[in-house]
Amino acid sequence: MKSLIDILDFTVEELQELIDTANDIIEHPAAYSERCRGKKLATLFFEPSTRTRLSFEAAMYELGGNVIGFSEAASSSAAKGESVADTAKVISCYADIIAMRHPKEGAPLVAAMNASIPVINAGDGGHNHPTQTLADLLTIYREKGGFENLTVGFCGDLKFGRTVHSLINALSRYAGVRVVLISPEELKLPSYVKKDVLAAKGVPYEQTTDLESVMPRLDILYMTRVQRERFFNEEDYLRLKDSYILTPEKLKNAKAELCIMHPLPRVNEISVAVDDDPRACYFKQVLYGKYMRMALILKLLKEAGTL
Ligand code: CP
Repeated sequence: MKSLIDILDFTVEELQELIDTANDIIEHPAAYSERCRGKKLATLFFEPSTRTRLSFEAAMYELGGNVIGFSEAASSSAAKGESVADTAKVISCYADIIAMRHPKEGAPLVAAMNASIPVINAGDGGHNHPTQTLADLLTIYREKGGFENLTVGFCGDLKFGRTVHSLINALSRYAGVRVVLISPEELKLPSYVKKDVLAAKGVPYEQTTDLESVMPRLDILYMTRVQRERFFNEEDYLRLKDSYILTPEKLKNAKAELCIMHPLPRVNEISVAVDDDPRACYFKQVLYGKYMRMALILKLLKEAGTL
């Protein structure tokens, strides 16, 4: 049973197939409005979410399907001690596909190993967020026309930012990509991502604490929120939370074609004064996420033999 737990579960060709389907949905939405008639998506969210859960739900409705699920662990039988494995077996009796977010890294993988329907990782702890990466890839593709030879700056909480880990994994497979890692010392990209992804794939990268010094070289600037919920103490969070705040002033030396991205939610990392800059792509990213999730649901249901 094909699931999406890690972005590397899909080949570059499969990612392109999803991008092509999403672009076709954007062009011809009516042609897709009945594709999932009679099918059910279960959204099992053990952690808060606005974009991911609601875009999955909107995606399934726009495909003509239905949605069941819960938005917090407290309203599910997890609160009574039910395991992720048992939850996956139970939901397999009710739905055709699962989207799961969980605070524990690896929980969606456990679900996939126990479910008899496809499971989509909608974010697991500080580990991965592959469907955000699908939204990010469509944004880059539509803004830049492809992925080759881009210099991509990741700024903020690179330690706990699961969207960063997944996107670096995805981009490391395209030729000529260069990565600039911009973070405070305490929030640097984990060594395992540097070693197993960037170094292993021969992706040139540099690390800095100074956003403005690297700004003129960037094609993509991927801002991130400092992940308060993953910190062990509030004092460290308060000290680091405003390490980077993108303002129009800081963009003065940026390329005219820079693409500014953020998985959202934002707290203070991007001033609202940047929102009207034509280079701000983070709200387009939200919309593209819905189309990529539609393409993903179609692909996984087809591969499961359900469609
Ligand atoms: N980008 C993202 O995952 O947002 P939510 O936490 O609102 O789903």
